Amino acid sequence: MKLVHISDIHINADPIGGADTIAAFAACLAHVEKRHGDADAVVITGDLTHHGQRHSYVRLREMLDAWPTKPFLMIGNHDHRDTFREIFPEVEADVNGYIQYVRDVAGHRLVFLDTNLVGNHSGRLGPRRQAWLAARLSEAARDGLPVLLFLHHNPLPIGVLATDILALVQRKEFAAILRAHRDTVRHIFFGHCHMSLSGSLEGIPFSAPRSTSHPGWPEFEGRLAYGHGSIEPSYNLALIDNDNIVVHTIEYRLDDRIEWEPLTGGGTGSVTVPPGA
Ligand SMILES: [Fe+2]
Ligand SMILES: [Fe+2]
Repeated sequence: MKLVHISDIHINADPIGGADTIAAFAACLAHVEKRHGDADAVVITGDLTHHGQRHSYVRLREMLDAWPTKPFLMIGNHDHRDTFREIFPEVEADVNGYIQYVRDVAGHRLVFLDTNLVGNHSGRLGPRRQAWLAARLSEAARDGLPVLLFLHHNPLPIGVLATDILALVQRKEFAAILRAHRDTVRHIFFGHCHMSLSGSLEGIPFSAPRSTSHPGWPEFEGRLAYGHGSIEPSYNLALIDNDNIVVHTIEYRLDDRIEWEPLTGGGTGSVTVPPGA
């Protein structure tokens, strides 16, 4: 299974920090189509727009309608749930109106969470959303399907104050649900931090790509400051089989600067391997 994970595209009519977010996302889409047009799934983990404005969702809809693959869409803290639903009515919501749903892809159950609280930048997973998640994980276990779990907000502190004050608020509750379903959830994918991250939570691996619009630079000295500059945007490419998951960071703007040197011989064949080596 090949899965493309894009996050924090922040579509906006005006540039953000000097970056044209629409052109940046278009370049990302073009690269995915060129290199990974055979992906089984493409997921965008929220902050689809910068201000949750209708015209930004309309612009995003135009871009995605012209693209051959239909990505799974999620909302982040910069999004507006009702406006999103107005422009993307086909994206499923749960009985409480949260944009959260599941899809089965290539022997896995993809679970998409809504951690948005409109008007607030930190993440929320209140009792109703917690119950929804626990129920979906129980169903997946019953159905014998491993889960790939997606959310916008970082569900743990990452050691960077500027993002940690905007993390998921109900981290303990989220971790408790993971503990109860550790054998079901194979990997957690999130965004929000605009930084390339990997690690584990409750023994479950996680990864996050940078933003396509304004990647961040980590600050480790406890200052409340957001680092930005000429940082390459990225998306992640996850290669998933029954045994392993490998996540590549794809800094897609560098692609046309790469020089390829053909390798011959492969380093095998003529070597005598001593016993026990
Ligand atoms: Fe963001
Ligand atoms: Fe965010």
